[in-house]
Parts: sequence; C-alpha cells; structure tokens
Amino acid sequence: MNSEIFDIGLGNNDTATREDAGRDYVAFWEKQARSLAWFEGWSEVLSWKPPFARWFVGGRINASYNALDVHQKDPERAAILWEGENGQRRKITYGQLFCDVQKFSNALKSSGVKKGDRVTIYLPMVPELIVAILSCARIGAIHTVIFSGFSASSIRDRVVDSNSKVVITADGGYRRGSIVKLKETVDAALEGLDFVQNVIVLRRTGNEITLGKRDVLWDDFVKNHPASCDAEPLPSEHPLYILYTSGTTGKPKGVLHDTGGYLTHIGSTFRWAFDIKDSDVYFCTADIGWVTGHSYVAYGPLICGATMVLYEGAPDYPSQSRMWDILQRYKVTIFYTTPTALRMFMKFGDSIPNSFDLSSIRLLGTVGEPINPEVWRWYYTVIGKGRCPIIDTWWQTETGGMMISPLPGLETIPLKPGSAALPIPGVDIAVVSEDGTELPPDTKGYLVIRKPWPGMLLTLWGDDEKYKSVYWSKYPGYYYTGDYAIKDKDGYFWLLGRADDILKVAGHRIGTAELESSIVSHHSISESAVCGVPDDVKGEVIIAFLVPKDGVAVTDGLRKEVIEHIRHDIGPIATPHQIYFVSKLPKTRSGKIMRRLLKAIASNEKIGDVSTLEDGAAVNEVQSAFDELKKQIK
Ligand code: PRX
Repeated sequence: MNSEIFDIGLGNNDTATREDAGRDYVAFWEKQARSLAWFEGWSEVLSWKPPFARWFVGGRINASYNALDVHQKDPERAAILWEGENGQRRKITYGQLFCDVQKFSNALKSSGVKKGDRVTIYLPMVPELIVAILSCARIGAIHTVIFSGFSASSIRDRVVDSNSKVVITADGGYRRGSIVKLKETVDAALEGLDFVQNVIVLRRTGNEITLGKRDVLWDDFVKNHPASCDAEPLPSEHPLYILYTSGTTGKPKGVLHDTGGYLTHIGSTFRWAFDIKDSDVYFCTADIGWVTGHSYVAYGPLICGATMVLYEGAPDYPSQSRMWDILQRYKVTIFYTTPTALRMFMKFGDSIPNSFDLSSIRLLGTVGEPINPEVWRWYYTVIGKGRCPIIDTWWQTETGGMMISPLPGLETIPLKPGSAALPIPGVDIAVVSEDGTELPPDTKGYLVIRKPWPGMLLTLWGDDEKYKSVYWSKYPGYYYTGDYAIKDKDGYFWLLGRADDILKVAGHRIGTAELESSIVSHHSISESAVCGVPDDVKGEVIIAFLVPKDGVAVTDGLRKEVIEHIRHDIGPIATPHQIYFVSKLPKTRSGKIMRRLLKAIASNEKIGDVSTLEDGAAVNEVQSAFDELKKQIK
C-alpha cells in the first residue's frame, strides 16, 4: 500500500499495555475497568454466550456518577464551553452540571420515569442535551437521542419502537440562521401516541409554540426540585441507551448499549487516542444525535473530566471561517472532526485557516468515513502545521467506541495517510474472504471482529433474532462489520467503504432499503432503486432510479415532490442528489435489482468487466440492461 510514512507522535511509548492485551484480553479489559468508579465489584469479567456478551457481571455502576460525582473535588473546572450558532456563549462547570443533572433527575423521577423506562430526546446541540442524557443515566432510564434533523415520521417510528414514556425537545433550534421548529415536528410525530406521558420543552429560540395537556416547559419541570439526587447503582449490563441507525432492511434498528462495558471501552479509548490532560481543550464536532456524539462528546470527555467545546450550529455559518474562529478563541488543543467537513474546509482555501492562530492544536482526529490521503495531508500540513499526529479512528454505532486507530496517548507509531493504523489493544480484527478465511496482507476482503469487546452492542432493541442474523450469520462466531478493508504487511488497516447496502453520505448512514421504501410510499412511484456515487465533498451522494406509476407524467414538479416527500418522511440527510426516471429497473432473471450496474451508470462509468458486475446474472443480460437503461434515462 501507500509507502508514505509520517513519523510523528507525542513521544509516548507504553509497550506494556499492548503486551498485556495480547496475553489475555479478558484480564486486560478487567484492568481497564478498574479506572472507573464502581459501587460493587463484578463476579465474572465476561459472560460470552455467543453472540451475546455481558461484561463485568455482578458489578454495579452508574454512568452519570462517573461523569459528574467523581469530579466534584474541583467543581469550578469547566466541563462545557458552549457556543450557540447565534454567537451566544456559556461556560458550564462540573459543579453546575452536577447540580443541573440532579435537579432534572429528580424532576424525571417525580414525573413517573423509572429505571428501565425509555426517554426520547430530540434537542439541538445545547448543554441541556447533555443534562438530559446524564439525568436519564443517573436514574437508570434508557435514553434514545434522535438527531434533530430527522423528520416527524422518523421520530414517530423511534418513539413507537422504544415505547418512550417521555419526550424531551425544544421550541426550536438554529440552523444556518433560521429557526427549525422542533416542537412542531414533535407534535406531528406524537399525534395519537397516548403512551407518551410528558413532553418537556426547552425554550431555545423563543418561537411560538402550542403547549398541550402533556407538555411542560423545561424550567417549570425542574422548578422546586432539589439539587441532590443519588446516582442509582445499576447492574453493569443495564442498558444505557438505544441509538437507532440505518441498516440493510427497511426500518432503522435500535442499537442497545450497556453501561459498564461501554464506559470501560469509551474511557480507555478516549485516553489512549487523545492523550487527554487537564490543560487540554477538546473539541469534537459531531452531533450528539450520532454515536460519535454519544461516545466522544457526551460520555468519553466527561468520564475523563475533560474540558470540551460544544458548538450548536453549522460549521460554515455565518462564514467559512467559523470553525477556525472557534478553535482560536477557545485555544482548542484536540480537534476531532469528519472527512466531509475537512473536504469542505479544504475547498474554501488555505488562506482562511492560515489567517487564524491555530498554534494551540496538538492532536487531530477524523471519524466516520474513509479519509482520502490528499485530505489527510492537507489536515496534517495546513491545520496541524506538520506538528500534530492525526488519528483516523474506525468504528461503528454497534462497536460503541474506537476499534482501529493510532493511539498517541499510548504509543508513538508511524502514520500512513489514509490508513486507520492498528486495532486498539484488546480487540481482535481481521480481513477475511467470502468463506471466512483470513486473507494474506494487501488483499481486499471483509472486516470481521473475532472476539467480544467491552463496547459491543448488547443486542438490537427488542429483536435478538435480527441481531443474530445481521451481525453473526455471515461468519458464525465472528462479528460482521459490513465493511471492506485491506490489512497491509505492517498490520495497518485501510478501510474501503461498505460492502453492504448502506450508504455513507457526509458520514451519515443511510440504508438503501429504508430510502427505497420511503420513496415508493409516494403515490406516483411504483418502484425505486438507490445507489451511492463518489462525491468530492460528501464522500458519497445518493442517486435514485424511479419507475413512475402508469399514466404519471415525468416532470420537474414530480422530481420536486419526491424530494419533498423524502425530506418529510426521513429528513433532509436522505435527499437524493439526482433522480432518474426510468420505465423499468434492470433486474436479474431471479428478480434482483442490478445495483452495481445502476452505480456504474450513475457514476458515468463504462460497464467494464460485466461478468463480475452482478451476482447471478449472465454477461449479455447485464450488458443489454445497461444499454437499455442508458436509453431510457430521463
Ligand atoms: O463504513 C464504516 C464507516 O462508518 C461506518 C459506521 O458508521 P456509523 O455507525 O454511523 O458510525 C460512524 C462513527 C463511528 C463503518 O462501518 N467508518 C467509520 N469510521 C471510519 C469509517 N470508514 C473509514 N474510515 C474510518 N475512520
């Protein structure tokens, strides 16, 4: 693979940790778990009844306790340096956060929320989102955060699936200067759902809202509640949260994470990856609606007592320099963002970041999609000035925390632009062929995880069978990641994108099946097939091939209607970049849509080696489908 190597690190050289992990991964993770505060120790480190793992069985712990109570020796220490999109600023100390969380926890309790109940959170990136999460964790309620860009029907599906008792939202949120009316969306989502007992509404934008019988304003909800609420000692395997994510089937799946194993994984990787020190100012740009925000905005930094910047809005609003302005003002030392954001910043030109003082930065990270080597080099030279290691962290909603990444807090290893480097200690990751045998170096194959790890999902909410079939049936005994990868001769991993029907648009996961079923719910469309094509900012964009119902005229109006329908049904992140209307979709004789052919056409590629293009289709069949489709496209 790429022979270009950057010998840069922070000078840490702890070889013992990796050696420890290599000897006995269970004992290794047990040692890491001891860095957390436990109410009771465990009787068994790992109960592994494939494919169900339970970590630290018998142990009792609380995530909110580990994020707050343990840091009260220094209550004045800043936990969150928050900046609103509208320029508003707030500093929230560990003492203040502790107080706010206890009040809110008491309020939740007195509204009838009990251990194990589900609470849906649909808020913009404001400190109250963290208060809500930590309050649920404190009393043992299971939070399910929904990204505030999702539509009413997406919220409804998730609230119904999780059977949430309470929904927490805001009047509105700022997005690129305008107000997104969140409460209105929640009202539409919850219509007729009587099992939702309360909707708590934070005042953020001050837009007009209607308060119904079950609605209560945040300030009224917490008023008169004492700022003292002991954290519930919960079993280690108690579910901390459900996070819905797109899969290869129609509906999003509820990934369920535990408490003790998850916190062990997040705490360890946060320290190893970011080398966090008391003097650091950490800034992760992820929204808490996604897993990066859960693990490395909400839980990781707080359980490590870090000071973080939290930013509410769009990275390029009101100007293209917004990010660098934030980095300069707060003297950010660790910056963790996405390749999509970096590609956008790079397009804006070097003179923008060059006009800011970014000398405080000492470590850079990326997550969520493959990073192109040229973007890596730009990040390294223009932002890091050749001084800062870049950690390219590979992981998934399901893995809970980082699985492959350079770990400058632990060791100094050479970096290769475009590679996420080595697996973290204590995990066993391999690249295998279709039949499950490990492939020799430099060969493309499927990425699998061969042993349980502490951050792994417990199951899919309410669906153990789906959990087994999605992750554990392709390679019995191995967790199937759904990613293609290559391991090079030095043991470095190169991630090559999804091998399944999941798209990654600007780093967001979108299931093709989910999107297709949304499209055909439009009254004018009879069939649809979507695919992703490369894009130089978003990594991948969506192209949709649609078959209109008989008698429906293909017009620009129809195109607009379909787009509006998708935005309304799923949310703006699923908007296709291009829609092609066709009279029929190319299918194999067995009725399977020829997806790779669609991708080839959408990318304007030649058909190439058609014999390998589609499973189970004859060469001439694919070729004629290709020719026919090209003629039809409107
Ligand atoms: O395809 C991989 C890609 O993102 C997928 C997981 O998506 P999600 O659950 O939304 O979590 C994203 C944040 C952790 C993976 O299966 N992916 C994630 N990180 C990387 C990546 N692809 C390449 N390089 C990465 N560093």
